Amino acid sequence: MSRPAVDLLVGPAAQVVTVAGSGPDLGVIPGGLVACSAGCIVAVGSAAEVQAQVEALPGCVRVEAAGKVVTPGLVDCHTHLVFGGWRDEEFELRLQGLGYMDILRRGGGILSTVRATRRASEEELFDLGLRRLEAFLSVGTTTVEAKSGYGLDPETELKCLRVARELAAAHPVDVVSTFLGAHAVPPEFEGRTGAYVDLIVEEMVPRVAAEGLAEFVDVFCEEGVFGVRECARVLEAGARHGLRPKVHADEFAPSGGAELAAEMGAVSADHLEKSTEAGLRAMAAAGVVAVVLPATAFFLRLPEPTSGRAILDLGAEVALATDFNPGSSTAVSLPLVMTIGCLEAGLTPAEALRAVTIGGARALGRAGKLGSLEPGKAADLVVWDCPSYRHLAYRFGENLVEKVIKGGRVVLEREPRPRTRPPAGGRREREGEEC
Ligand code: NIG
Ligand code: FE
Repeated sequence: MSRPAVDLLVGPAAQVVTVAGSGPDLGVIPGGLVACSAGCIVAVGSAAEVQAQVEALPGCVRVEAAGKVVTPGLVDCHTHLVFGGWRDEEFELRLQGLGYMDILRRGGGILSTVRATRRASEEELFDLGLRRLEAFLSVGTTTVEAKSGYGLDPETELKCLRVARELAAAHPVDVVSTFLGAHAVPPEFEGRTGAYVDLIVEEMVPRVAAEGLAEFVDVFCEEGVFGVRECARVLEAGARHGLRPKVHADEFAPSGGAELAAEMGAVSADHLEKSTEAGLRAMAAAGVVAVVLPATAFFLRLPEPTSGRAILDLGAEVALATDFNPGSSTAVSLPLVMTIGCLEAGLTPAEALRAVTIGGARALGRAGKLGSLEPGKAADLVVWDCPSYRHLAYRFGENLVEKVIKGGRVVLEREPRPRTRPPAGGRREREGEEC
C-alpha cells in the first residue's frame, strides 16, 4: 500500500503537544513530528513513526522545531473585533474609582463605542480589523470569534458583520461571526427595551441570517441590561433562523444567565463571574462550554474572578478567551490570558492550554476541525521558542511565538537573531560609537 504523500513536515520538536484525548498530560510527544497535506494533518507521532507512515512530496516544506514546542493554533472564542475608537479616558476614570456599569449608565462605555462605530466607514473598520488580526496572529491565534454589538441599529450591525466577513476573506486568521444586537439598549430606545428587542427579533435577526452574516447569536444577560425573558426572545429568534445561541452571563450580578444558557442548550456561556452554583451545574449537565475571561476580571478589577477550577470540577468544558474589546479587556494575547487563568482562575498550565485550543474550538462548534493535532484536522500549528508547553503560561509578557502555520501554510515567521557569537575582535566598541 502506498504511503500518503505530504507537503509539510513540522518537527521533530522537543514537544509536540497534540491536546488529543482527555488525559492530564495533553498528549505530549517528545521528539514529535507532524505531517500535513493540502492544509490538513495526515500523521502525528514520534519522528520515526511518522517518517515510516508518510512520503514527502518533492518540494515538501520542512519547518524545523528542534528544542521547541509545537501546539495547535490557538482559538480565541470570544472577541469584539470590529469597533471604532478606543476608551482610554474611561480607563483613567475607572482608575479614579468610577464603576464600569456607572460609566455605561451615564451614556459612556459600550454606548460611546457605539457612537464611534456608527460614524466609522466600512473601510475604516476593515483597516482597523486587519491590524488587529495581525496582532492576534503575532501571538499564536489562528481563529477568532468576532461579535457585532457596537451598531445597535440594523444598518450598523450589518455593516460590522460584513466587515468581519471581508476580514475573514482577506487575512489568514479565520473569523467566526456572532450577532450581538442585544449588547446594550441604544439611546434612541432608552426606557423602551421591549421595543428594541422587537426590532432585533423582527428585523435584525432575519436580515443577518438572510445575508448569512453570522453563525451564532449572543445576548448580554445582565441585571440592568437585558433580562432573562428578553434574552430568551432574542435567542429563540436566532434559533428559528439557524443561529446557534451564546450568552454573556452574570458578569456583574447573578442574572439567570447560566440557567438560561443551560435551558436554551447554548453552545457557550461566557463571563460567569456571578453565576449561581445551580446555574453552573445546569450548564455542565447540558454540555454548555464555560468561557472564562480572566483578562476581563483583571482589567475591571472584579473582586471575584470566575473560578475555572470550580467549573472544571463540576465537569464542564472550560475555554479561555481574551474578550478583546475597547472597554473591559484590551488584551489580544491568549498566552497572557493563560497566565491570568492560572493565577486567578485556578487552572494548571495544561488546563489553560487545553482551554485556548480544544476548549475554544468546542465553544465555536469546531472541535471536529480545530483545537488539537490529529489526522483529519486543519493544519493550524504554532512553533514556540521554548522547551516545554508550561512556558506559555509561565513566561508572561514575552512573545514566544516563532512560527505560525495556518491551513498548512507558514503565515508568520519571527526568526530569532543568529545564535553565533561575533568573531573575536569583531565587536563594536560601545564608547565612541557613532550614532
Ligand atoms: O464582554 N460585558 C459586555 N460586553 C463586553 C464589554 C464591551 C465594552 O465594554 O465595550 C464584555 O466584557
Ligand atoms: Fe464580551
